[in-house]
Amino acid sequence: MGPHTAGTSTNDQLGAMMSTATGTARTVAAASGTFLIGGDLPVHRLGYGAMQITGPGVWGPPADPDEAVRVLRRAVELGVNFIDTADSYGPYVSEELIAKALYPYPDGLVIATKAGLVRTGPNEWVPLGRPAYLRQEVEMSLRRLRVERIDLFQLHRIDPQTPPEDQLGELRALQREGKIRHIGLSEVTVDELLNAQSLVEVVSVQNRYNLADRASEEVLDYCEREGLGFIPWFPVATGRLARPGGPLDAAAKAHGATPAQLALAWLLRRSPVMLPIPGTKSVAHIEENVAAAGITLSDEEYRALEAAGR
Ligand SMILES: NC(=O)c1ccc[n+]([C@@H]2O[C@H](COP(=O)([O-])OP(=O)(O)OC[C@H]3O[C@@H](n4cnc5c(N)ncnc54)[C@H](OP(=O)(O)O)[C@@H]3O)[C@@H](O)[C@H]2O)c1
Repeated sequence: MGPHTAGTSTNDQLGAMMSTATGTARTVAAASGTFLIGGDLPVHRLGYGAMQITGPGVWGPPADPDEAVRVLRRAVELGVNFIDTADSYGPYVSEELIAKALYPYPDGLVIATKAGLVRTGPNEWVPLGRPAYLRQEVEMSLRRLRVERIDLFQLHRIDPQTPPEDQLGELRALQREGKIRHIGLSEVTVDELLNAQSLVEVVSVQNRYNLADRASEEVLDYCEREGLGFIPWFPVATGRLARPGGPLDAAAKAHGATPAQLALAWLLRRSPVMLPIPGTKSVAHIEENVAAAGITLSDEEYRALEAAGR
C-alpha cells in the first residue's frame, strides 16, 4: 500500500464519524491521501465531478437546483477540495451552480474546468478548438466561477480540425497571462500526450476509466511514470457498477460497503496518481462516495474486484 492510500477505518466507522461530528467529517475525503497537481496544488485524491448537476442530456438546469447546491456544499464539508466541471455542462449551469454554492471559496479548493466541446443540443458534443473560441471560453469560465485564475484548465477534446499547436499554444498564452495555472488534457492517447508535452507542460489527463473499462491502462501507466494526475471519468460507470445484483454486489456485501464504494476504493488503490471524480446529484450519494476514501482493500480483495470487473 502506497503513501497515498492512507485510511484504515471501516465503512461503518466512517459512517458514524460523518453523522456525529462535523469536525471529524471534514477529514473524510482526506483519507484518500493527497496528490500534488502540477507539483504545487495539493488535493485530496477523491474529488467530485459536477456534470450530473444539470438537466437530462447534460442540458439545462437540474430538476432540483437546491439539492445541487446542497451536494456541492456537503462535498466540501466532507473534505473534497477537488471539483471537476466544464463550460459545456449545461452549458454553463454547472459552473454557475459551483459559484452560487461555494463562492467565496474556502482556502485550498481547486476547481478544474474545461473547454473544447460545443453543445448543439442535449447529449450533443462537438469538438471545437479554434484559439479565439478557447480564449473566449476561458474568459467566460473566469467570469462564471468568479476567479482570477483557473487552477487547472483541461482541453476537453483535441479538435481534429485545428492544429494541436494552435490549441495548446493558445492555452500556453493564457497561462503566461496568468489566466490559467495548469494545463490538462482529456481523452488522449499516449502519442497525443507526448506531442502535447512537446508544446506545453501537461499536469493531468482525464480519460474514461473504471474497474470494467480499462482501455486507458497504457495512458494511466504513462501518467504514473511521469507523475501526472490521472482523472478517471465515469468512475462508477453511471451507476452500472453500483446496481444491486451488479458485478460488485456480492463483494460489497462481504465488505460491508456498497458496490459504488468498492469501485472507488479499487480506483484509489490502483495508482497513487488516480484522482476519481464520481458525479452525483444527490447528497446521499456524495456521502456514500466520499466514505469510499476510508476503505482499504487487501491485496486479495483488490485482485478479486479486478476479476469481477472483467
Ligand atoms: N472528460 C470527459 O470527457 C468527461 C466525460 C464525462 C464525465 N466527465 C467528468 O467525470 C465526472 C464523473 O463521470 P460521470 O458523472 O459521467 O459518471 P460516474 O461518476 O461514473 O457516474 C455518475 C452516475 O452514477 C450515479 N451514482 C453516483 N454515485 C452513486 C452511488 N453511490 N450509488 C449509485 N449510483 C451512483 C449517479 O446518479 P445520481 O446522480 O442519482 O447519484 C450518476 O447517474 C463527471 O461528473 C464529469 O465531471 C468527464
